[in-house]
Amino acid sequence: MRKTSALIWQDAQHQVLFEILDLLKLPNADRELLFRLKAYADNHFAMEEQYMRELDFPGRIEHMQAHARFRKEIAELLDGGEELDDSFREIIATFLTQWLTLHVFGIDKLLEEFILQSPAK
Ligand SMILES: [Fe+2]
Ligand SMILES: [Fe+2]
Repeated sequence: MRKTSALIWQDAQHQVLFEILDLLKLPNADRELLFRLKAYADNHFAMEEQYMRELDFPGRIEHMQAHARFRKEIAELLDGGEELDDSFREIIATFLTQWLTLHVFGIDKLLEEFILQSPAK
């Protein structure tokens, strides 16, 4: 039987990431939000990666590569120094939201199920 319980910390952290991305879509949103997104994502990815290592999750290489791609996107945006006008920021936020949605409902779900089924969650 399929478990219906959720991994609370993972769900809560995903929620915060989506909230930061929503804020980034607002007019005149601050560049500071990108730093906040980066810090929060780094922390969240590190936590998932720690579980993957400790539980020897079989899909961890692919999953960590996906995290690395997101980190790279953010780092490029922060390094680029482009002016973050409203339309550019909205494009970024929409792109990152789509990426995160696919990730969260794709391979993060596999990890969630794996952690929930492991005795050492
Ligand atoms: Fe995640
Ligand atoms: Fe993930």
